Amino acid sequence: MSETTDIAIEYRDVTKAYGEKTVLSHFDLRVQKGEFLTIVGSSGCGKTTALKMVNRLIEPTSGDVLVGGRNVRDVDAIELRRSIGYAIQGSVLFPHMTVEENVSYVPNLLNRRDRARTERAVSKWMDIVGLPQDMLDRYPAELSGGQQQRVGIARALAASPDTLLMDEPFGAVDEITRGQLQTEIARIHRECGITIMFVTHDIGEALRLGTRVLVLDAGRIQQYGTPQEILARPATEFVERLVARQRHACDLSDERLCACEHSGAARAEAALLAQGADKGE
Ligand SMILES: Nc1ncnc2c1ncn2[C@@H]1O[C@H](COP(=O)(O)OP(=O)(O)OP(=O)(O)O)[C@@H](O)[C@H]1O
Ligand SMILES: [Mg+2]
Repeated sequence: MSETTDIAIEYRDVTKAYGEKTVLSHFDLRVQKGEFLTIVGSSGCGKTTALKMVNRLIEPTSGDVLVGGRNVRDVDAIELRRSIGYAIQGSVLFPHMTVEENVSYVPNLLNRRDRARTERAVSKWMDIVGLPQDMLDRYPAELSGGQQQRVGIARALAASPDTLLMDEPFGAVDEITRGQLQTEIARIHRECGITIMFVTHDIGEALRLGTRVLVLDAGRIQQYGTPQEILARPATEFVERLVARQRHACDLSDERLCACEHSGAARAEAALLAQGADKGE
């Protein structure tokens, strides 16, 4: 297999400017297939901009973005967006459609004639994101924030994309729901082998979920490495500061959580242990 076939997403010398203001500068990045890439950095550093270039919601000022080896400029934007899952913070469900209609929206566009196949896919994704099937007939307004977030993820996944873009998808939910959603997404990634780009402003979440972590600041890549590399060998002062805060947070919390800070599965285990403790088990 040639080297390039293992690359899911590639940025080649990408610069994005709005007038005088350069948001991303000579951005080069290769994301391997099957990677769970987390992108972390301070507000306004260009995370969303980088993500939206993948599905052409934003076009680069110069440079190229390739998805599956194809320059996105050469791909029809609508076709591209249907082939890439996209989940963002808060609920972006169609309010006038039921959960089922929301989740089946893209699969129906893709295979209009095969309703049974779509139904199976919808049912499968409801299970995977941990929602009961009897919720399919409800409208978004009849769901909690965390449930809406899960439906959003099911909808993003229902077209069986190879690539999933997530922009602070768990930002608007409480800590417990967030932990559950992190566990679900880590499992989905493990089981489905999709490539995920996941933007967060939370270094803890980035280290926990990512197989690789990209740290951005001021439109430039500060470090791109495994969570272990980022923790052990911060490449710049910015990364050092980010990680130091995280180490400090670890010192203050449960030792087990600290030890497994980059393992979603182990964190889930710790959460389960905590639930058991609540029940006096
Ligand atoms: N359409 C636009 N016109 C001008 N400036 C823009 C536009 N869109 C984004 N920007 C600027 O580009 C910079 C990067 O924005 P971006 O949304 O990528 O940041 P971010 O890292 O996702 O931030 P946050 O963590 O707050 O979501 C910001 O300074 C923002 O103000
Ligand atoms: Mg953003």
